[in-house]
Amino acid sequence: MIVTKLLLSLHVLAAIVAIGPVTVAASMFPAALRRGDRAQLAILHRICRVYAVLGLAVPVFGFATASSLGVLGDAWLLTSIALTAVAAAVLGFAILPAQAAAVAGNPAVPARLGMTSGVFNLLWATVVVLMIVRPGSTTGA
Ligand code: HEM
Repeated sequence: MIVTKLLLSLHVLAAIVAIGPVTVAASMFPAALRRGDRAQLAILHRICRVYAVLGLAVPVFGFATASSLGVLGDAWLLTSIALTAVAAAVLGFAILPAQAAAVAGNPAVPARLGMTSGVFNLLWATVVVLMIVRPGSTTGA
């Protein structure tokens, strides 16, 4: 029980500390690109890259919490895992490469980066709601 609470705390802490900065930095990137602010592009990209790696702690502690609670087969959790995987793919295969190209001086389209960042943010927001509402779950409130 105490172990579950510790794992859940680390899971939520990782989500706040790692996903939060990525959300903000990825959202600020397109505007910096439009302004042509190269110094800011570099720092925003660096924040996204570093905190994306730190964000791997979220699913790690998520799985640990889930197995500790015995809810690994629950529909709400499987849906969350799938959405988390999609969000990670959008970040790793769309947002970060486009940012890297922009930082390197290649013309990336700001509108497209704005769109992929928006999709990413929506995916996280959906997972957070799923984590809290847990539709169909009979464990806890
Ligand atoms: C592979 C992905 C994930 C797994 C396996 C997972 C697993 C879990 C589990 C088992 C719980 C405990 C639910 C309960 O108390 O019954 C939980 C809670 C929570 N998760 Fe996740 N999670 C994942 C991804 C995420 C992501 C991406 C976020 C946010 C960005 C997130 C945010 C939260 C929050 C805020 C809670 C607390 C909800 C509450 O107790 O009311 N999780 N997660």
